[in-house]
Amino acid sequence: MNIENKLIYEGKAKKIFANNNPAEVIVEFKDDATAFNAAKKSSFEGKGELNCFISETIFKYLTNQNIPTHYINSNSKSSFIAQKVDIIPLEVVVRNTAYGSICKQTNIKPGTVFKEPLIDFYFKDDDLNDPLLTIDRIKLMGIIEQEELIVIRELTNKINLILTEFFSTIQINLVDFKVEYGRNHNGQIVLADEFSPDNCRLWDLQANNGNIKSLDKDRFRHDLGDLIEAYSEISNRIKKIFISST
Ligand code: TMP
Ligand code: ASP
Repeated sequence: MNIENKLIYEGKAKKIFANNNPAEVIVEFKDDATAFNAAKKSSFEGKGELNCFISETIFKYLTNQNIPTHYINSNSKSSFIAQKVDIIPLEVVVRNTAYGSICKQTNIKPGTVFKEPLIDFYFKDDDLNDPLLTIDRIKLMGIIEQEELIVIRELTNKINLILTEFFSTIQINLVDFKVEYGRNHNGQIVLADEFSPDNCRLWDLQANNGNIKSLDKDRFRHDLGDLIEAYSEISNRIKKIFISST
């Protein structure tokens, strides 16, 4: 990165810089962590690099499986080059197993395994605290066309299938995750943002006592142990199995 790389946007866990090519940006991962809409904040040395590596590996893996993503190539240990996109203000959450907010808002018991993955859409708006949307509300709000919503659902289901398998190969249960999409300069919808343990629930299938062992940001949300240890564990398992083939 150099002096011309102007900061375009700063989020809670990432900074987006302009690249020399106007169709590209540099996505830089920060060490900062927030939870509960930034009511809880901290910083963990090394988190940015770990999330960058995990995200890059997953974006490359998905690209190889014909999922369009914004990822272009590596830039530094904590940043990569991506297509410049207009982010669609939807947080798309896939749930394979019930945990977190769904268990607070419904009578569904934590740990219930869904026959079909549940896809929930939230409005990406911190001032409104990212409220849960309905399909009819999305239509009324005019956020996206109906056909685009169908594309997003299909891509999200495919991503879930691919990544459930990916994580099970490294003895991890992909419980749920959040993704975001953007439109690139051709108007194509692509997977954007990041895919890291900040945005998903990953339970260790090697935990030997049957208890839940979170290897994700729940460690920080609920003070469940060392976050860097968990993210490093994921990174190391990925390196062992996938890194030569991605
Ligand atoms: P939830 O149970 O709090 O609704 O979270 C579901 C998944 O979405 C979980 O993997 C964490 C992720 N998530 C985000 O990435 N960003 C958010 O702002 C929230 C609330 C959840
Ligand atoms: N992403 C939200 C925050 O940064 C909430 C969360 O992930 O728990 O505060």
